[in-house]
Amino acid sequence: MESMRALILTKYGKLEEALTVMSTPKPTLDESSANVLVRVKAAAINPLDAKIAEGALNILFSEKFPAGVGLDLSGIVEKAGKDTGFNPGDEVFGIMPMTARGSMAEYALLPASMLAIKPHTLSFAESSALGVVGVTALQALAHHKGAKEVAFIPGGLGGVGSMALQLAKHQFGFARTITSVSTAKVAILKEKIPDVDIVVDYKKVDPATVIPAGSVDFVLDPLGTPYAWAKYLRTDATKKPTMVPSSLPSHRRPSSAPLA
Ligand SMILES: NC(=O)c1ccc[n+]([C@@H]2O[C@H](COP(=O)([O-])OP(=O)(O)OC[C@H]3O[C@@H](n4cnc5c(N)ncnc54)[C@H](OP(=O)(O)O)[C@@H]3O)[C@@H](O)[C@H]2O)c1
Repeated sequence: MESMRALILTKYGKLEEALTVMSTPKPTLDESSANVLVRVKAAAINPLDAKIAEGALNILFSEKFPAGVGLDLSGIVEKAGKDTGFNPGDEVFGIMPMTARGSMAEYALLPASMLAIKPHTLSFAESSALGVVGVTALQALAHHKGAKEVAFIPGGLGGVGSMALQLAKHQFGFARTITSVSTAKVAILKEKIPDVDIVVDYKKVDPATVIPAGSVDFVLDPLGTPYAWAKYLRTDATKKPTMVPSSLPSHRRPSSAPLA
């Protein structure tokens, strides 16, 4: 059996103790399957990877150790199952299934349905960072069935926030977008996503002094603190306002948005 190097979770715990790079069997492709074997060029890290490794989600995802690590990847197709539409040499990016993680490895085996051809305009590193945050942002915005006058997406240069902020107008038809970022990110955000209507520097200005209470149709919570953002939502139920909590409640409170 061929082997490969991979980042492996050996137990739940602090990342420096629970994760180790080791030799592990290289996955093999059943060529009659709908799977694809990818030689990984880049793998991106999400907060979820750390939460899983620390055991914070062990009620949802119970690990059998040693376990693979990571969801997001990009790379080159080594071998492809019959009728998958992929061919050896294709440059791809995608997401490992939640039940079979392991993008942080030399090779990854995943269903063809979790892969797409990498755009020529993006590097392997850039495209590896698109999958999980992109799907998260798409799912969050698709959840909203109400009015689309204003979307407030704090953390507009974060992984999920940057995706949602770009999709809100162009893919989902919101008329106006608002974000809040820390001071160093204000200029970068205005350069990278220039059509955002209001950019609040939350380190200097309380967003509540700029965004009227009850004026927003959609809020994407970036911190697992949905109660801190609820005041911005419209109270008119006929407009079906939506708050999407990004995470399990973390008990953290954004300093700029204290509880009343
Ligand atoms: N990554 C995923 O695909 C994914 C999937 C599901 C759920 N989630 C959850 O979604 C949340 C964000 O994940 P992420 O991967 O996007 O993390 P991230 O890249 O670290 O982004 C979080 C952003 O929040 C911003 N932020 C911090 N305090 C803030 C405040 N008081 N007001 C406004 N913005 C603030 C930070 O911006 P500044 O540096 O400017 O402060 C940072 O850019 C996490 O709770 C995560 O667990 C993520």
